Amino acid sequence: MTDNIPYLDLPAQIRGIRKDLDAAIARTLDNCSFCLGPDVAQFEKDFAKFIGAEHCVSFNSGTSALHVALLLLNVGPGDEVITTPFTFVATSWAISYVGAKPVYVDIEEGTMNLDPKLLERAITPKTKAVMPVHLYGQSFDIDPILEICRKHKLPLVEDAAQAVGSKYKGKIIGTFGEISCFSFYPGKNLGACGEGGALVTNNSAFAARARALREHGSTVRYYHEEVGFNYRMEGIQGAVLGVKLPHLQKWTNERRRVARRYHKLLKDTPLQLPREAAYAESAYHVYAVRHPRRDELKKHFEANGVGCALHYPLPLHLQKCYANLGHKPGDFPVAEKVARECLSLPIYPELTDAQIQRVVEVVKNFFK
Ligand SMILES: Cc1ncc(COP(=O)(O)O)c(C=O)c1O
Repeated sequence: MTDNIPYLDLPAQIRGIRKDLDAAIARTLDNCSFCLGPDVAQFEKDFAKFIGAEHCVSFNSGTSALHVALLLLNVGPGDEVITTPFTFVATSWAISYVGAKPVYVDIEEGTMNLDPKLLERAITPKTKAVMPVHLYGQSFDIDPILEICRKHKLPLVEDAAQAVGSKYKGKIIGTFGEISCFSFYPGKNLGACGEGGALVTNNSAFAARARALREHGSTVRYYHEEVGFNYRMEGIQGAVLGVKLPHLQKWTNERRRVARRYHKLLKDTPLQLPREAAYAESAYHVYAVRHPRRDELKKHFEANGVGCALHYPLPLHLQKCYANLGHKPGDFPVAEKVARECLSLPIYPELTDAQIQRVVEVVKNFFK
């Protein structure tokens, strides 16, 4: 009897740093800084330094960070924001929350990120921002997208929720656009013990306004300059993230080790493997393979005790919540095809070579 392999093994990560987490959480209990506080402030400094950005403003989730990013750019009702239909829904939520319209641009089949070749034709006089996603931890092709943004004087917001520690042309992502947003959801590469997120920017005015917006639109307590939100990061999450951040580079290296093993051991199977673009150094938040018999493969994994996941089974333009946009099947054919075929394999720093071998055997048995 072999042990099951979970899709994600958070307990293994927690076990490795449990003492430090206990101490950090105990410190928060002692100082009672439960909303923001010194550990959050320290984490913001450390995270900004890690990214190479001037400012980091933390939030209670990546979704909140994205929402505030669009508010900082004064995107509002009647405006359009260009994004990808193949992402977690929160990218589009931010656009909807400010009353704007998500305008989707299909993805490249190789990288599954927004296709720069299709971007320019989606721009209209109503376009106020471009917000692609560094999906699965691999950067989108930033240079051609930035060039189009500059030509049309449009700000670039990077949804980097899945891509902390990822690089584009050798430089860590987070400062290519005006604002980048990260998620510290527990399963992310850098995860809190609860919800968390951040935006980073080199723009001081944006950072100052973001700090006010996350705290009820105020800089002086009980005086409110604009309608704001309760989007503060919890003190405990700042303490936890402070413990985890020093491990991130090592964890990213380990994720890349797992990806290399999969590449090597699966390359002769009928699966289509994720392709790392020449410009990218992926943080491998997700290792998504593709095959037309995806649903059967998923059942086969489950029957053999190997966890897997679907990121994502239905592109956003076909979701019920966006029926009002009037899209139909066939509008974004690449996203639709990838959504039908993708399956995410287990990938985390603690995954052993023996476990990888077992995942590979399960794949090979499927095709026997
Ligand atoms: C691409 C993408 N954008 C936004 C989010 C939202 O982040 P959060 O779950 O922290 O709100 C996530 C993560 O869940 C994500 O994967």
